Amino acid sequence: KSLSETYDSMFKIGVALNRWQVRGENSQAESLIRKHFNSITPENEMKWARIHPEPDEYNFEAADQFVTFGENRDMFIVGHTLVWHSQIPDWTFLDENGDELDSKALLKRMKDHIDTVVGRYKGRVDAWDVVNEAATWSDGLRQSKWLEIIGEEYLGKAFQYAHEADPDAELYYNDYNLWAPDKRETVVKMVKRLKENNVPIHGVGMQGHYGLESPSLKQIEESIKAFSELGVKVMITELDVSVLPSRDDVNVSYNPDERQGAEADVPEALNPYTEGLPDSVQQQLKNRYVELFELFKKHQDKIGRVTFWGLHDGGSWLNNFPIPGRTNYPLLFNREYQPKAAFHGVLEAA
Ligand code: XIL
Repeated sequence: KSLSETYDSMFKIGVALNRWQVRGENSQAESLIRKHFNSITPENEMKWARIHPEPDEYNFEAADQFVTFGENRDMFIVGHTLVWHSQIPDWTFLDENGDELDSKALLKRMKDHIDTVVGRYKGRVDAWDVVNEAATWSDGLRQSKWLEIIGEEYLGKAFQYAHEADPDAELYYNDYNLWAPDKRETVVKMVKRLKENNVPIHGVGMQGHYGLESPSLKQIEESIKAFSELGVKVMITELDVSVLPSRDDVNVSYNPDERQGAEADVPEALNPYTEGLPDSVQQQLKNRYVELFELFKKHQDKIGRVTFWGLHDGGSWLNNFPIPGRTNYPLLFNREYQPKAAFHGVLEAA
């Protein structure tokens, strides 16, 4: 059975594609993507550093392939992401002499970038994560170069420029840990202000980088409701469920930056499943996905799309984040591209 067909009447089911999948080089991956997903997001290929590596140089090759991939398969195509503090070259904020740009010059640079990228895919990319991760974990806005140099108005401007470049595209704000009450409050206020100023914002993407036990369903649910009440679509973006302990969970001190030699192994306490995932944890992961999708189903009137951050465990960024060199199992398909118990759980939850 197909995931996207199963959830067709509720919301779209998306997947993030990496560079190899975009090129369609792996036929096993290709057929799973085609069968189970009706929306795609590029994991990295549209980020500033990739698509606009030098002031006068754009690199559209992989992004073009990504968009063509989606068009050929009739998918809802999400662009990710226009304005973010990460994966962006230092020159963005500097002039030719290496001095920091002023507000006006940085806004112009932002506009040029958005015009060029969104304009190129006008009418082809359906939606954009316009601003990514502008709030902080605790209350407030992230002290990024964008905020430092331009001030809060960079947020509205980014949406306005994107709207001008493609008036038909849906425009989203995307961030992680939006289940957390203080961050939820920050983003609720942000979106309210934007809407009061008639900024074209159509959705909030809640990155779903979750664990087996936290966050609680209640916290996620409160945020789905709070954003929906603002009159925007809610998306669960970047869904994955890490099965590995965090540094705080275990009693070992390990700092990958200080490791002696590249091959130094991650301590077993932090990387317990190198030989495979025990059945009990496999089952736990399934239960977690079931309860999550039951929640999403309950709020199907508010949720436009649920996108997984990767297709299969072997390709997940969580093998390398926040600690590099681990073996994680966060997705629905295993390293052999076979459906896991969690996959069946998601189908059953419908
Ligand atoms: C991650 C990618 O998955 C990695 O391949 C890359 O090295 C770093 O970025 N929030 C986001 C995504 O919005 O763009 C990030 O993607 C994960 C966190």
